[in-house]
Amino acid sequence: MQNNCLVTGAAGFIGSHLVDALLARGASVTGIDNMKLGRRENLAPALPNPGFKFFEADLNDLAACGKIISDQTKSAPFTAAWHLAANSDIRAGVADSDVDFRDTFLTTYNLLKLMRAHKIPRLAFASTSAIYGDLKKKLTEGIGPLFPISNYGAMKLASEAAISAAAESFLERAWIFRFPNVVGSRATHGAIFDFIHKLKKNPAELEVLGDGTQEKPYFHVADLIDAMLFITDNAKDKLNFFNIGTIDTVTTVRYLAETTVRYAQPTAKIRYTGGNRGWVGDVPKVNYSVEKLKKLGWAPRLTSNQAVDRAVTEIVAENS
Ligand SMILES: NC(=O)c1ccc[n+]([C@@H]2O[C@H](COP(=O)([O-])OP(=O)(O)OC[C@H]3O[C@@H](n4cnc5c(N)ncnc54)[C@H](O)[C@@H]3O)[C@@H](O)[C@H]2O)c1
Repeated sequence: MQNNCLVTGAAGFIGSHLVDALLARGASVTGIDNMKLGRRENLAPALPNPGFKFFEADLNDLAACGKIISDQTKSAPFTAAWHLAANSDIRAGVADSDVDFRDTFLTTYNLLKLMRAHKIPRLAFASTSAIYGDLKKKLTEGIGPLFPISNYGAMKLASEAAISAAAESFLERAWIFRFPNVVGSRATHGAIFDFIHKLKKNPAELEVLGDGTQEKPYFHVADLIDAMLFITDNAKDKLNFFNIGTIDTVTTVRYLAETTVRYAQPTAKIRYTGGNRGWVGDVPKVNYSVEKLKKLGWAPRLTSNQAVDRAVTEIVAENS
């Protein structure tokens, strides 16, 4: 699986950590990113590695990406593609649904076309817990019907559907990972990232949307990469789909805000705007099952609060 890989969204937060992990396993990696949200500094450890090639290109430019793939596969074909390119700015997708259509769905559709044309047999895909919408039940992988409440979730669910059809027709194997909120160094977005940047602008006060009681599982990127590699090594169905997350632990927004303030700006006051929802499309409470992944034999090292503690120190250090 890991011999010669294509990674989309390679300069992003999770993609760049995945690139490092694949290179550490001895794989050759070709990264593609349009640099809309990606950052070249995320690739600093990978760029000097002779096993890594990076191309700034948009996955919606089929001709450009097709040329990159055929140039890179002259000597050896790609054994797998890891598709992480997407619009990760949920609020941008709420404001303009074209953003998620283009960057979250069409990137998947186009990558599948490219994989068929260039005979790339395996696909690992970064999906999301947002596909479940606001179901008031334990979120197991088989639950339904699924009605996402954000364009982002809708376009990820549509991507899963397109991958399922491709698995039936030409893919040898596919893995769908449904991530929770992932945190850690190189973050390009997310609540901790936003809090730290808000505190830079106003060191006296941190404004927090909602009343602080919303809770979610947060997951550290190091655990996430470990889980993705474990799943691709061990899950051998044609179409594999897994929730990835912490086991029965969640973090409140209050804990997130207080931890960020403690490390980033201990003198700042926290002001909550009130209400139980942060923004349109945000799911206030989630009850996420990771039983299937546990049964496969993988468990995370960090609880949700430990993941937050580690991520806050990493992001504060990067931004100081
Ligand atoms: N971070 C999380 O908490 C989280 C949660 C669930 C799912 N995910 C998924 O994981 C993946 C990685 O997320 P991330 O947090 O690293 O976000 P990110 O924004 O840091 O990375 C996504 C990358 O994709 C690139 N990209 C976007 N549109 C593109 C296009 N048309 N062509 C080429 N590149 C394009 C961006 O420039 C960016 O570098 C995404 O698919 C995201 O939806 C992330």
